Amino acid sequence: MNPNLVTTTQAVDTAFYVIFGICGVMLLGIIVTMVWMVWRYNRKRQPVPLSQKDHNLWLEVVWTAIPTLLVMVMFWYGWEGYLSLRRIPDGSLEIKGTARMWSWFFTYENGKSADKLYIPVGQPVKIRLESEDVLHSFYVPAFRVKRDTVPGMTTWVWFVAEQPGSYDLFCAEYCGVAHSAMVTTVEALPAAEFQAWLESGATVDPIEQGATLAQQHGCLGCHSVDGSPRVGPTFKGLAGSPRQVLQSGKELTVTADTDYLLRSLREPAAEIVAGYPPIMPVYAGLPDEEVTALITWLETLR
Ligand code: CUA
Repeated sequence: MNPNLVTTTQAVDTAFYVIFGICGVMLLGIIVTMVWMVWRYNRKRQPVPLSQKDHNLWLEVVWTAIPTLLVMVMFWYGWEGYLSLRRIPDGSLEIKGTARMWSWFFTYENGKSADKLYIPVGQPVKIRLESEDVLHSFYVPAFRVKRDTVPGMTTWVWFVAEQPGSYDLFCAEYCGVAHSAMVTTVEALPAAEFQAWLESGATVDPIEQGATLAQQHGCLGCHSVDGSPRVGPTFKGLAGSPRQVLQSGKELTVTADTDYLLRSLREPAAEIVAGYPPIMPVYAGLPDEEVTALITWLETLR
């Protein structure tokens, strides 16, 4: 890594500690002066005023100049830090980050995609952020970066991981019922390991692929696989079971066969399982082989 590179963490922390330090010194100074004056000039100790002077030019100049200087120092550190966050270092790896209700999805230049953000240690990464539906916010506290994803607009962040590890990645903009489940991780891998991961092929086993797709498309943000209800009904024991559904306002019982699963994916609003809100996003654009893999996997969750 370029030794002169100011990381986003350093940029934000420097500004934070400078501002926090100045505020701390000011707070302490003001309180000490105030307490001392209360003691020194209280009525018992000082019944008659010592002086009737109503101003002192030098004192006024000093107490205007020092705070102005302090505010300019805070501004300078804040501005420098901001510029570091907005200046993309040379040699950054570009990755596309997609936000949608309620999951993250990352696509690499070679077409590889993942629901976790895999990055190489020591190389800056630029994440190009897009939203498929509403406002979300890409937030990785460890790297001090937070940026909104806006429908119809591309935004971006950059950062660099100096140590390998797994770092939390949150959505920091309230985006609907499962907002709090819109979490994933940044997986920082040593460069060689990252390269190997990037070049490894996709999974081919349809059941395994289905499980991966459910993860990638965010299905698991709303549907559990262990029987517990979430925003949507659980996947466990779903295939082949009788379902109480609302179809055009009428309640009826249907069997969750392959056709039912297919309809639920392609046009989720057609039949709504009784007791759940009609909020499932439409996955009309899913390729057929992905739908088949998902259904194959769903049918194993008995
Ligand atoms: Cu996406 Cu909150």
